[in-house]
Amino acid sequence: MKQSETSPSGAAVRPLRVSRVQSPLTGTTVVPGDKSISHRSLMLSALAKGTTHITGLLEGEDVLCTADAMRALGAVIHRHADGSWTVEGRGLGQLQEPADVLNMGNSGTSARLLSGILASHNMMSVMTGDASLRRRPMKRVTIPLSETGARFMSREEGRLPLAIQGSAEPKALEYRLPVASAQVKSAILLSGLNAKGETRVEEPVPTRDHTENMLKHFGVQISVEETSAGGRIIRLQGGQSLKAADVIVPGDPSSAAFIVVASLLVAGSEVVIENVGLNVLRTGLFDTLREMGGQIEVLNQRIEAGEPTGDLRVKASALRAVDVPAERASSMIDEYPVLSVAAAYAEGVSRFRGLGELRVKESDRFASTIALLEVNGVRTSVEGDDLIVHGTKGAIPGGGCVGTHMDHRLAMSATVLGMVADQPVEVDDTTFINTSFPGFFELLNRLGAGLAA
Ligand code: S3P
Repeated sequence: MKQSETSPSGAAVRPLRVSRVQSPLTGTTVVPGDKSISHRSLMLSALAKGTTHITGLLEGEDVLCTADAMRALGAVIHRHADGSWTVEGRGLGQLQEPADVLNMGNSGTSARLLSGILASHNMMSVMTGDASLRRRPMKRVTIPLSETGARFMSREEGRLPLAIQGSAEPKALEYRLPVASAQVKSAILLSGLNAKGETRVEEPVPTRDHTENMLKHFGVQISVEETSAGGRIIRLQGGQSLKAADVIVPGDPSSAAFIVVASLLVAGSEVVIENVGLNVLRTGLFDTLREMGGQIEVLNQRIEAGEPTGDLRVKASALRAVDVPAERASSMIDEYPVLSVAAAYAEGVSRFRGLGELRVKESDRFASTIALLEVNGVRTSVEGDDLIVHGTKGAIPGGGCVGTHMDHRLAMSATVLGMVADQPVEVDDTTFINTSFPGFFELLNRLGAGLAA
């Protein structure tokens, strides 16, 4: 593919050929800030009274879309020379009507969480995104949020562009999530902030709780109760004001995932990744890799701004196959593409259960992960929502051209696969890596990967 081609987003396509890494990865590094926490820090600080100072914010394109949207809604947001950010909030219920369409780029988290905020503010707004986001389901938020009194108009199946008339007197919702989704849970909780009465969300399976943690950090009273069936019920009273509170964003465990897997697979590697978020609702991949025989040690464990954080020391390890239960999926939902690379390199047949939600990510990740492996000579099979990967015991043939479908995590997983495959791997487009992991190739090269990018 030539450099001059453009992706469906109109941006130039950046293909890459990845060859087997010749020497071990070594050294100490840090990964960019957590994407989920970064989005929430901008949204909550815009709803708070006062000035919030944010350090470690992810400056990836997804988060920059959220920053632009919150500016369009009236928050005053600055980036400082030292890389920290300040947000002067408007106060709850005080957002201004945006003058133009809000562009959420590639970011499902921006679109879904913001829908909850926009539904509960009495104003009209329109949201759009890139070709990937415009394909993704939004009914999962618009159906429950319509009960607040907000009105939504969208393309077929609730797809973006989406016009929202927020409710003048938003009603508090009582909702049981039909799918395990932190985005849907968060949209409902955020709508409840400006509603009258108690909002109650029940999740059958716990999902990442960064919204709950950060609401507490901004002074909102919120109760979380475990159910006897292993789920959670979250309640908050509307009308509580948010108070500005400084936020320290830890490194993103979902970005660390790529460096961890590369370090486990490249022979002789030993890498320390400092300051990684270790919220237990995000660390399913690290548990799984340990079950496979991966040497991953947590050092210097601490709590930073309400979130468990630590350093990871990773040593190259011979991995064996694993059977990942469906109950673990929500704690590692973004990590299956790179886990599948680890399973492809491992000895034995791995099974990942209950992956239905992968079909509605930035790409259909169920299909694109299978294609990533198959095109590089790794056998897979599917049973219902389970993915089965036939490990090659360190002999991934490679030689394939991987279609990344505007999906950052597919592009990074394909890179890791190419780093350990026998033949070079073509990645059709690496542009979207900037949505979540700016500096990905530079970081790998500082550890000794020697990639051409
Ligand atoms: C996210 C929740 C997950 C995850 C996404 C970020 C969040 O999506 O895949 O990358 O920040 O709340 P779902 O809510 O669709 O599972």
